[in-house]
Amino acid sequence: MRFDDRFLDEIKSRLRLSDVIGKSVKLRRQGREHVGLSPFTKERTPSFFVNDDKGFFHDFSSGKHGDLIAFLQETERLTFVEAVERLAAEAGLALPEPDPRAAAEDKKRQGLADWLESAAAWFEGELRRPGGQAARDYLTGRGLPESDWGRFRLGYAPAGRTALKDYLVTKGARPDELADAGLLIVPEDGGAAYDRFRDRIVFPIADGRGRMVSFGGRAMDPAARAKYLNGPDTALFDKGRVLYGLAEARRLLHAAAPDAGAGLVVVEGYMDVIACQRAGVAAVASMGTALTEAQMELLWRLDPEPTLCFDGDRAGVLAASRAIDRALPLLGAARSFRLCTLAGGRDPDDVLREDGPAALKAALAGALAFVDALFARERDVGALDTPERRSGLKQRLRSAARTIADADLAAAYKDALLARHDAMFATAAAPRRPWTALPGSRGRGGRRGPPPDLPAPPTPEGRAAAKRLAVGIEAVPAALARHAIADPVVLEAHLEALEARGFGDPALGDLAREIVRLRLSCAHLDSDTLRRHLASRGFSALLNDIDRAATHAGAPFPKDDVTLAAVRSQWSHAFEVLNRMAALEEALTAAKQDLAGGAGVSALMDLKTERDALRRAIKTGQVWLPDPAP
Ligand code: UTP
Ligand code: MN
Repeated sequence: MRFDDRFLDEIKSRLRLSDVIGKSVKLRRQGREHVGLSPFTKERTPSFFVNDDKGFFHDFSSGKHGDLIAFLQETERLTFVEAVERLAAEAGLALPEPDPRAAAEDKKRQGLADWLESAAAWFEGELRRPGGQAARDYLTGRGLPESDWGRFRLGYAPAGRTALKDYLVTKGARPDELADAGLLIVPEDGGAAYDRFRDRIVFPIADGRGRMVSFGGRAMDPAARAKYLNGPDTALFDKGRVLYGLAEARRLLHAAAPDAGAGLVVVEGYMDVIACQRAGVAAVASMGTALTEAQMELLWRLDPEPTLCFDGDRAGVLAASRAIDRALPLLGAARSFRLCTLAGGRDPDDVLREDGPAALKAALAGALAFVDALFARERDVGALDTPERRSGLKQRLRSAARTIADADLAAAYKDALLARHDAMFATAAAPRRPWTALPGSRGRGGRRGPPPDLPAPPTPEGRAAAKRLAVGIEAVPAALARHAIADPVVLEAHLEALEARGFGDPALGDLAREIVRLRLSCAHLDSDTLRRHLASRGFSALLNDIDRAATHAGAPFPKDDVTLAAVRSQWSHAFEVLNRMAALEEALTAAKQDLAGGAGVSALMDLKTERDALRRAIKTGQVWLPDPAP
């Protein structure tokens, strides 16, 4: 640390907190404190307190709290060092002489940074030379026009073994320095060092101040051993403390009007950051690893509630779950996240290219509050059809809340999670619901037959008749839509998917989009409101058709011993399958077109195989009412 505590205390004793803050916030004395309107939120009644004796401010509207250094960091977005330098000048204190060892290390780091900067510039140049043809084609093929290469300082590392090394050595670099900077690999057997990045597109990685600290390199050949290669940790680059795209994201956040856009967004990949930033979304990414505590702290400096946006594939779901676990202990006032998992196996770059910025922004706007994402994760762990399993859920919710270090928030989380739990089962017991009789009141022995608004279970003859009666809507999509309208809670985790691909039948596309629109403009959407609204928008006939299609085709209805919770998790499963199916159909169409342009046949075959397997599963009824047990 450059400044010791004595120096910091000296600054604080020379400056009065209320004087420093009073320059930007109008303060009024109130007892031992000063109060004013929060500089962090738009409030009308003052809830921002400054206490000179304690040397702290506390902002009740945003939960921010800190000393005068923190105040400058928060309001003027200065780094710690910048804030201290500014305050020292104000207090008339000379900055302490840096100690010689630290100064020497600083100098060495600066030297490495200079070589990284030279490398970045050289890679940029190589992208434009004849050897960079394939790289140029690759980038434009991915929808990244030349006019944007400079903004992200994209470059190309040529294929030769020592091209970069040779260049930098002629510029005066020593190979050992270049190895320390992570640019060269030193073979174990003592042979000569060679370039780490060869025949790859390079993405320069900068720290928060925009200083070059490392590179990520992407192979263009899909058969390459590693798609991405990242620089190693060095004196300059600590993978767990850097976020790709941070400097540019900060700029975008400042440029945006308050309340505009999605705030700070964390995505998974380099290409996602670039695509998002081109669309005006302030995105950053970690380098292929789970977010660390240090990275979360960096994020919270810029936004009290960044959105974590995960790819809609299996890895993305796992990453979201890992992020929940990592963040939980650290949550606090103005220290949280929202979570968004994209639909159909896509990443933000795919969504932007295929559906445009509005679709991505809609998905981000539909991100779940942390507490809801946590609840949904625990709820979807498995079936909830027995008291034991429900009790297990309750236990998981309690123990999740307990991992939050902030005691007040932990208590609030426990209440909020249990309230969601109770609400889920309370709806199950509400009158006029097919699953009312559950749980327990309708035992195996005491069957009373289905409630009146349920059709009788379909017989094989009934199903055949249904085929003839079909109203042009597929049965499973109809059943999904029907249940979603009766129980809109199920939509919460799937809004973006619903917006993008509906219920898996194009005939229901408008309906799906209208439902999403309504949900986004209405915090708590119940079934009656939804039906009324849909009727007023001219969807009545379609709703009838849906009922008929669902009923006649022998659409699934909860069995006696199935709880609402189980139905909900089955609904989610079926919805995801149909969504995946729709995504596959789209990908297949695209792949077929590509084939004309010479794209790979094997990719196409893989898609086909997956699509056909899903189709069979849907046809044979494995999709609706699957065994919900894990
Ligand atoms: P992705 O494969 O999702 O990256 O991995 P991407 O940027 O979306 O990739 P393309 O170019 O569009 O296909 C997410 C991140 O994980 C890290 C990289 O940081 C990447 O951006 N990663 C991925 C690696 O470090 N190594 C790998 O082999 C793959
Ligand atoms: Mn990706």
